[in-house]
Amino acid sequence: MTTSSEHHRPPAAAYAVAAAAAGRAPSIHNTQPWHWQIRSDRLELYADTSRALPGTDPDQRMLLLSCGAALHHAQVALHAQGYDVAVRPLPDPGRPDHLATLTITAEVPVTAQAVRLAQALQLRHTDRRPTVDSPVTAEQVDELRRLADAVGVNVHRLTSDQVTELVVAVSHAEDAAAGEPAVIAETSYWTGPSRPAGTGLPPEVIPDRRPETDVGERDFGTRGTLQAGGGHDKASTYIVLFGADDDRAAWLRAGQALSAIWLHATGQGLAVLPFSQVIEIDGTRAMMRRILSQRGYAYIVLRLGVADPEHTLTGHTARLPFEQIATIEQTGSGAAGNAG
Ligand SMILES: Cc1cc2nc3c(=O)[nH]c(=O)nc-3n(C[C@H](O)[C@H](O)[C@H](O)COP(=O)(O)O)c2cc1C
Repeated sequence: MTTSSEHHRPPAAAYAVAAAAAGRAPSIHNTQPWHWQIRSDRLELYADTSRALPGTDPDQRMLLLSCGAALHHAQVALHAQGYDVAVRPLPDPGRPDHLATLTITAEVPVTAQAVRLAQALQLRHTDRRPTVDSPVTAEQVDELRRLADAVGVNVHRLTSDQVTELVVAVSHAEDAAAGEPAVIAETSYWTGPSRPAGTGLPPEVIPDRRPETDVGERDFGTRGTLQAGGGHDKASTYIVLFGADDDRAAWLRAGQALSAIWLHATGQGLAVLPFSQVIEIDGTRAMMRRILSQRGYAYIVLRLGVADPEHTLTGHTARLPFEQIATIEQTGSGAAGNAG
């Protein structure tokens, strides 16, 4: 599809807008390990391994999940511009860093749902503060399950006994990470002053003390300025995203599911906190598989809770400038134009 009506941006400009919007996607340690190639007739997503975490994430599971979330964000941004889009995951076996190609297939009316999701993309953030005492409903979890199912990913809600097992797994993962100098060095780099501008975790999003939760939050090795307050995670719901495969295509899908869940949850007033350390460490990843009764491979654990309406947004994590995450193919008449 190369034409566009007067109500639609030309495809190349729409791709540029989508790549810019996808920059807000969540990523492990806010590394933003993606690069977009914007062409007149397609949008290509690449892994940028210069921002990979070889110590923390040696198999690039979390890199692929992060890029999958960015991919889903781009899909959302194209829908919100009135475009249907086809996605080819891992289109080139000779280039494993080429993660996906998106192609506009049709002009469609912009739905209210597409606009809502695009708005959620601007509001979504990671909130490490404890949530309020109201439980997440079974219907809300069912809806999240449906969203993940649409991209071929399963969702399991942990029972209270399984949450107790998760507490143990998280604590094992923390201990294992604390004994790995490469992991410690990466965590301190991405939370420290020498990280690249526009990346990493600033003090404003890291709690000022360890929140009083049963399932321990990730220890970033530094105290931030986010007031964790009292409260706990007693009313929180823990879900595991999982599936039959444990390969790059599956991790990319898991990232798409993570984004779909997170954007919908944001619109519902739910706070989402990923727990990925139990997946990063081999031993605890096996524990998570046992918790799932070997029904599949665990991709990520998410804590869901009703966001405290009194909590103000304490500032977004920064993002890399567009020029550093995207390249626009220069073809004269096919130039993509302004992404803003
Ligand atoms: C694959 C993945 C794994 C993550 N793992 C954790 C985690 O274990 N603990 C945590 O506090 N945040 C985790 N996060 C959240 C990121 O730190 C966060 O997305 C990033 O800093 C950007 O901030 P934002 O989500 O507020 O935009 C993870 C995010 C992704 C996408």
